[in-house]
Amino acid sequence: MADTNNIPHEDGLDHSLNLLREGYMYILNRRRSFESDVFETRLLGKKAICMGGKEASEVFYDPDKFKRNGAAPKRAVETLFGKNGVQTLDGEAHRHRKQLFMSLMTPERLQILRDITEKQWDSALSQWEQMEQVVLYEDVQILLCRVACEWAGVAIKEDEVKKWTKELAALFEAAAGVGPMHWLGRNARNHVEQWIQELIEMVRDHKLVSSENTALHKFAWHRDINGELLDIETAAVEVINILRPIVAISIFINFIALAVHHYPEETKKLKNGDGKFAEMFIQEVRRYYPFFPFAAAMVKKDFTWNGFNFEEGTLTLLDLYGTNHDPKIWDNPDVLNPERFAGWEGSPFSFIPQGGGDYFMGHRCAGEWVTIEIMKVSLDYLANRKDFEVPDQDLSYSMVSIPSIPHSKVILQHVKRGM
Ligand code: HEM
Repeated sequence: MADTNNIPHEDGLDHSLNLLREGYMYILNRRRSFESDVFETRLLGKKAICMGGKEASEVFYDPDKFKRNGAAPKRAVETLFGKNGVQTLDGEAHRHRKQLFMSLMTPERLQILRDITEKQWDSALSQWEQMEQVVLYEDVQILLCRVACEWAGVAIKEDEVKKWTKELAALFEAAAGVGPMHWLGRNARNHVEQWIQELIEMVRDHKLVSSENTALHKFAWHRDINGELLDIETAAVEVINILRPIVAISIFINFIALAVHHYPEETKKLKNGDGKFAEMFIQEVRRYYPFFPFAAAMVKKDFTWNGFNFEEGTLTLLDLYGTNHDPKIWDNPDVLNPERFAGWEGSPFSFIPQGGGDYFMGHRCAGEWVTIEIMKVSLDYLANRKDFEVPDQDLSYSMVSIPSIPHSKVILQHVKRGM
């Protein structure tokens, strides 16, 4: 391990394989061994900088220093993101598109989302009571697909719910996949894009009435900064940017179930609470368990920070998981402790499970409030409103596979409606 350009760097031609082998821990392991929050490596054949921690996150989210266009790996664009979505935009074009995303997140729209989520949990419970066992990950995805479509104004035929749930899930399950997994993800993207493009065309041709405040309606009629309607492909990519991640909340819901099962003392505190502890519990689930490992950007123009030189065009990864487990920020970061959020003052740069910085000006997740609301409703059902048994199974989860999902996908049996 030598030191050039004053950034500690990993020797060797390429470390993409190490990244695959070490997954969520890749950046954190090196931040520890270099005793530095910034280091240089080589990924996908090119120089790359990795960094983590609060200060690094502040720099990463400075739009004068980093840009997004060209930062996402081609594989992720082909599966997870789609082409020309908000993730790839910079400057005024980004702000204009992001404004539309954020206009979907009003208190009224979030209340509608909570109501839909409760309705879907009730209806799922009625079905689960008739079943011997439920595979939570899979059944919650179906529930969330219904929530996502209803909230976004996307009509879905009852006999196609399972099919579209699987296709939407394939988009994020394949994000870091190689070989057949990647191909499944690409196929799913083609199918889902075609489905949503047809709906957008129908809205524009007035053959489908869409409710005004829904994502489908807003993206169908959105005009870019030049006053032009979005092309149909891009409008569909953005509607899918709402549907896909809502289905992905199934991963956090699996981790809620794990936390409820593994930490009964914490779960007891949820009973008859005023909602404050539930919120702390959710925040701790989002901090503690692995989900999005890092965010990627490109250095916009040469700059120096803390004596380190960042060269224009260098791929830079911000360690999201590692920042949420940084001992400089969190006491005993590897212990699940919702109480840590009791007096938490909040910081857009130190607690970053869904990215950091400003929602409107930067690339922080547009759906963070949606995620928290759906998680709160789901926690209430899992902890307070139903009884179930957890049979013997492998509840462990990988720190390498991205995304990480408990190996058994959380099997529940003899589900009954609770008090
Ligand atoms: C399931 C849990 C979720 C996780 C872990 C998550 C995580 C993230 C992360 C890490 C980013 C990128 C931040 C960056 O590049 O700096 C992001 C961006 C984004 N997320 Fe989420 N997200 C989730 C749910 C959602 C939901 C429910 C929605 C929509 C309803 C959503 C919509 C978006 C959009 C549109 C962006 C792009 C924002 C931009 O580029 O300006 N996400 N998310």
